[in-house]
Amino acid sequence: MALIAYDDADAAAFAQTRHLRDDGLAGWRAAVGRHVRPAPGKRLLDLGCGTGSWTRAFRSWWPALDVLAVEPAAAMRERAVIAPVLPGAADDIPAAHASLDAVWLSTVVHHIPDLEAAAREIRRVLKPGAPVLIRSAFAGRHEAIHLFRWFPEAVAVLDGYPSVAGVEAAFATAGFGTAACEPVAQVSARSVAEAAATLRRAAHTPLQLISDEAYAAGVARLTEAARTGSGPVVDTLDLLVLR
Ligand SMILES: C[S@@+](CC[C@H](N)C(=O)[O-])C[C@H]1O[C@@H](n2cnc3c(N)ncnc32)[C@H](O)[C@@H]1O
Repeated sequence: MALIAYDDADAAAFAQTRHLRDDGLAGWRAAVGRHVRPAPGKRLLDLGCGTGSWTRAFRSWWPALDVLAVEPAAAMRERAVIAPVLPGAADDIPAAHASLDAVWLSTVVHHIPDLEAAAREIRRVLKPGAPVLIRSAFAGRHEAIHLFRWFPEAVAVLDGYPSVAGVEAAFATAGFGTAACEPVAQVSARSVAEAAATLRRAAHTPLQLISDEAYAAGVARLTEAARTGSGPVVDTLDLLVLR
């Protein structure tokens, strides 16, 4: 069971506001490319692909890469910008044993109820030595993400997410070791005003899990920041690579 429902309302908000622009993703393109080394015939799984924006980006950056998209929530699959999206989950992946060259999990690990079971299943589908790439806001790592400045009450929600060490420990039980853990910057919005105008509570798990009062206070902070702020909103999330 994910932390939030990913029902029609969540999926619509996510599809509408959480697809990052390609020109803000140069850091992710470089980092993923370095670890995956895309080449003809290589197969990457976008696990928990949501509405498919990362699959779409990978296919446009590396047309020779075979990208498989899997997502458990029907409402997210129905709004996906790519096709096909197969039903499945981290502990039940519709792929053959040792058939994949990489697995990508973007802002998914906090929704997985049993990380050790997921690690075993990912181990099953990956070729020996192939990487799992985990893009996430991990517990204790809110400092470089603007959302948590505007909504400081949401830090407590983030601190309930898995930590880097917790994910490493869970995946170690399936034989994975850490290959890299690196911060990666992205342009989340062209301006604070754009961030304010496009914010949807239903699109962000941490904002769904704070009180209405805390959410309203955060919206007021963001509205004020939009009045005075200039320049793009650049956030840094982590990329944890395990092999
Ligand atoms: C914040 S969204 C991220 C979507 C997409 N990866 C992205 O970055 O745009 C989290 C996604 O994880 C999916 N999810 C929840 N539980 C999951 C599980 N056990 N295995 C795989 N995906 C899961 C949700 O349905 C949702 O689509």
